[in-house]
Amino acid sequence: MLTRLIYHSENISGGLEGKMMADLKNIMAASQRNNERDGITGALLFDQIWFVQILEGDREAVSTALRRIMPDPRHDAVTVMDCATVDSRLFGNWWMGFANMEGAHAPLLAKHGLGTRLDPRKMSGAVSLALALDVARTGLNRQVATEAV
Ligand SMILES: Cc1cc2nc3c(=O)[nH]c(=O)nc-3n(C[C@H](O)[C@H](O)[C@H](O)COP(=O)(O)O)c2cc1C
Repeated sequence: MLTRLIYHSENISGGLEGKMMADLKNIMAASQRNNERDGITGALLFDQIWFVQILEGDREAVSTALRRIMPDPRHDAVTVMDCATVDSRLFGNWWMGFANMEGAHAPLLAKHGLGTRLDPRKMSGAVSLALALDVARTGLNRQVATEAV
């Protein structure tokens, strides 16, 4: 059954710019390798404090990915925001697209009434999804460019 799960977590790599960049590159490489294999699509929004990730795919595959992602020491306090059976994918073009919400995408936070900084504690799953779709329309990254971090 096709499922979409949304969670947020605390970015633990945030304090050290070089480390965060290396961590993101490794997360991106693993995501694209594993997600293509497992039929998982989605988006990962981040800043130096937070991650918000959307995972779409078969319920078993999404659950297996979540069990692998949850204990990853590069983040903490994984908190499920939403999880539902869905009819179709919304991020079908992205095994996992990445977007820095401190960069060019920051104005989209204001558009969704979220102020100037990503704060997923104040966001519903529906708002996270709408934000991520808007970000995807302007283009998610497949590689972490220098300016993306
Ligand atoms: C915020 C965050 C998001 C992640 N997203 C994914 C993902 O979508 N797919 C994935 O396979 N791994 C993801 N990872 C990495 C996993 O935690 C894990 O390191 C990786 O799946 C291990 O892959 P490997 O067994 O191929 O080395 C993520 C990690 C973090 C911290």
